[in-house]
Amino acid sequence: MAAEEHKDFMQLLRQRRSIRRFEPRPIEPDKVTVLKEAVLRSPSSRNLCPWAFVFVDDKNVLAALSEAKPHGATFLKEAALGIVVCGDESVSDVWIEDCSIASFVAQCAALSLGLGSCWIQIRRRQRSDGTPSEVYIRDVLGLPENWHVESIIAVGYPAEQPKPIPQDHLKNEHVYDNHWGHAHTRRER
Ligand SMILES: Cc1cc2nc3c(=O)[nH]c(=O)nc-3n(C[C@H](O)[C@H](O)[C@H](O)COP(=O)(O)O)c2cc1C
Repeated sequence: MAAEEHKDFMQLLRQRRSIRRFEPRPIEPDKVTVLKEAVLRSPSSRNLCPWAFVFVDDKNVLAALSEAKPHGATFLKEAALGIVVCGDESVSDVWIEDCSIASFVAQCAALSLGLGSCWIQIRRRQRSDGTPSEVYIRDVLGLPENWHVESIIAVGYPAEQPKPIPQDHLKNEHVYDNHWGHAHTRRER
């Protein structure tokens, strides 16, 4: 594959940052339809697709979901959309991986549509009173008992523009060539 064919995706990835402040305007229905297509095109182990996605644009429900944990979720009430990524462990032992990939696919698709997004971690998180965030969300959305919640992806038109990470800030020391400890040397583009 020619390097040029990576260009569009890499251009987007180089600009990508988490967005936690959103404009109050809604997302066009066509774009929401594309986001729904995107999550369903995610890869999953053995193609088991152990997931369900609840697309929430009701302001009252978004406000309720924003209280799923004390920190790192409050901005959801200002988002136009929350994608609640749910997984069924009885379908696949690697539902966490599958749901994580689908979550990030949603974020990449949002970026490609000119939207901003931020991952809100739900799995293994709790409310202040000790209730698991997932149990609270199960109640808010009416999820069946066997379903877990991996994440909520907050999506909307960005009202902030965090600076892209410069190339020379990338932690190249986390990448090795061929053997552990062999520093990777970056080729110029
Ligand atoms: C698995 C995962 C969980 C995250 N959970 C939260 C969260 O609960 N709340 C939040 O505000 N950001 C969350 N984030 C966003 C990270 O804080 C963010 O990606 C990181 O600080 C790097 O910043 P950047 O995305 O702008 O490059 C999460 C990201 C990942 C990948």
